[in-house]
Amino acid sequence: MLQTSLEPDPTPTLRAAAVRRAPVAVTGIQASGRAHLGNFLGLIRPALALAGSHDAHYFIADAHALTTLRDGAALRRHTREIAATWLALGLDPHRTTLYRQSDLPEVFELAWILACYTGKGLLNRAHAYKAAVAANRAAGRADDHGVTGGMFGYPVLMAADVLLLAADVVPVGLDQKQHVEIAREIGASFNAVHGRVLTLPEPLIDRRVATIPGLDGRKMSKSYGNVVPIFAEPDELRRLVGRIVTDSRPAVAPKDPERCSLFALYRHLAQPAAVAALRARYLEGGVAYREVKEELVELLDAAFGPARVAYRTLMADPAELERLLATGAERARGRAAPVINRVRATVGLG
Ligand code: ADP
Ligand code: TRP
Repeated sequence: MLQTSLEPDPTPTLRAAAVRRAPVAVTGIQASGRAHLGNFLGLIRPALALAGSHDAHYFIADAHALTTLRDGAALRRHTREIAATWLALGLDPHRTTLYRQSDLPEVFELAWILACYTGKGLLNRAHAYKAAVAANRAAGRADDHGVTGGMFGYPVLMAADVLLLAADVVPVGLDQKQHVEIAREIGASFNAVHGRVLTLPEPLIDRRVATIPGLDGRKMSKSYGNVVPIFAEPDELRRLVGRIVTDSRPAVAPKDPERCSLFALYRHLAQPAAVAALRARYLEGGVAYREVKEELVELLDAAFGPARVAYRTLMADPAELERLLATGAERARGRAAPVINRVRATVGLG
């Protein structure tokens, strides 16, 4: 029998299944410096893998970088560096939406609205703010010395980033887990008043690479100045790897691979058989840290050498990068529009 448009669809569940969309993944990297190995192993590599099965939206968080950076030219350069990094490492801009946070003004609008649904106590408990207060107390200063409203409200802006695009999952390194949980909590506070308007996201963390150590053994981070930039030139790479702190055991002494930053980096970049062999040599004794450093430099050069060429080409053509970012922003704004419209209508703005 021919079905007319007035008759009910006989197979609504099948139809729903057929159009079931891929889950949406959203993540950002601050434009506060060159991307480093911690960013690559903790976020970029897993996020690129995820892009195969998800509707991925990855952005450069330039507005978040304003919390620490007050040099406009540097911010613009870092924004392009992070964009070029994603592209050089294999992000396909036709499949994955790559954009600059500040190209979506809706993010700032939503951040203000969400701030009005965010308990101040929730922000008092954020790790970064607590760390700033603890450092001030240790130095005998007032608790909030040097803390700006932007830094305190950082998690609210991050909540706006992910809630605006109705993210299902947010791939991040372990240090960002609390921020995603706060985003969920803020979204839940909004929904508690207005019903299910916002989609509550889950953090997605690759536990194997939770925290990549830096040159000094602390977490590798731009703010500690202990990073290996992904696209460091070979000379710089050699110099930086040479600075990785190790203990003073001689070559013949057995060593603990689990307590060695050098081994931690090697483990995430080398083939499993090579990792197993090096682990055995650590345990038996007979390996010099100098040798491992040389191997690590070679591994890094092999892993990133070809992408480094692509990176340089991209950085040499800012107009093309801007064009790609503009296309990404248009797509992201298309996805954001129904969410911000619904939020505006719900709260009574506009
Ligand atoms: P940084 O700490 O250098 O400022 P970002 O805050 O810009 O780095 O981090 C961008 C992403 O990279 C985040 O998802 C973060 O969790 C991840 N990341 C940063 N450093 C590391 C690290 N040392 N190990 C694992 N993941 C990391
Ligand atoms: N705070 C993140 C970082 O420092 C960057 C970021 C901003 C982010 N907005 C986000 C990450 C939204 C995931 C989702 O790494």
